[in-house]
Amino acid sequence: MKITFEKAVQLLKSGQNVAIPTETVYGLAAALHSEVAIDAIFRLKRRPRTNPLIVHVADLNMCSEFIRSMPKDFEKLSQHFWPGPLTLIAEVLEEKIPDAVRAGLSTCAFRIPQHPLTLELLKRTGPLVAPSCNLSGKPSATSKEHVESDFGKDFPVLDDGLCTHGVESTICSFQDGSWKIARKGAISSEQLSAVLGYSPEFCTDPKQPICPGQHFRHYAPNAKLILVKTPWHELKQKPEYVLGFFERLYQGAKKVIYLGSITDPMSVAKNLYHNLRHLDDMNIDTVWVDYVLPDDGLWSTIKERIQKASK
Ligand code: TXA
Ligand code: MG
Repeated sequence: MKITFEKAVQLLKSGQNVAIPTETVYGLAAALHSEVAIDAIFRLKRRPRTNPLIVHVADLNMCSEFIRSMPKDFEKLSQHFWPGPLTLIAEVLEEKIPDAVRAGLSTCAFRIPQHPLTLELLKRTGPLVAPSCNLSGKPSATSKEHVESDFGKDFPVLDDGLCTHGVESTICSFQDGSWKIARKGAISSEQLSAVLGYSPEFCTDPKQPICPGQHFRHYAPNAKLILVKTPWHELKQKPEYVLGFFERLYQGAKKVIYLGSITDPMSVAKNLYHNLRHLDDMNIDTVWVDYVLPDDGLWSTIKERIQKASK
């Protein structure tokens, strides 16, 4: 249910939840110190309580008061990428951030979203915690319709149309003397290297992920996704349903759902979760994904999301 800006301020200040737009995906927000609303986030999403939340702030001052000591280049990264789709993890003064938000860790994740309405909102409400506004495991929500499909028509949404990036923020953590990528996202590794002067390593160890959330099933529609890593013409058996790209021919397929153009990863990312959710609207139970894609820039994030969605 679309609500006004003033209503969103009032609900959040009175300890209730609101779906808020960001440049990445919609967030399921609660005020940082509202125990009830934070508890509701975990309940509504059916999110394991071992999975901590990102704290969204309006400016660097709003988060520096929580941080125990700024890791090297924290300010450099924040000056370069904030407001924007980068989340930075730091050791915090634990008494200042509720335990439930940190899932008991001594660190907290912060970001300043690049969304005019939500930045205004943060100035009025103070820091907001917000995971992606979807049921745990499902593709994130990039529109009001997605939020309503997971949480019902009456759920309050500060609606601002389709999110610009369509994939979540990149999460970075400073460990053993350098920044690591804990979750791939809207900011590419190449963009981070240009600022840091080195290429941040992507921490892939599934047994010891930096983000506890990386343990869980993610981004998945009900439909089963099969990744096709060989060119189409080499396939012996032609699949019925295909997630593919405008420039490519999928001879023999019954229906192609287009993810976009192979020359435009920004637009592929923007529409990715919508396309994954759309598979379920069409009651498709198995779809073959054209996974012959570049590995660099935003493609790296897109491929990782598709791969996780296929598990
Ligand atoms: O773009 C985004 O980041 C969106 C928008 C709404 O801001 N938010 C988002 O939140 O994707 P969520 O909760 O869906 O994903 C946050 C990830 C989880 O994998 C969680 O484990 C990790 O961040 N995380 C949060 N706090 C952490 C911490 N202190 N240490 C390590 N990982 C943390
Ligand atoms: Mg999420």
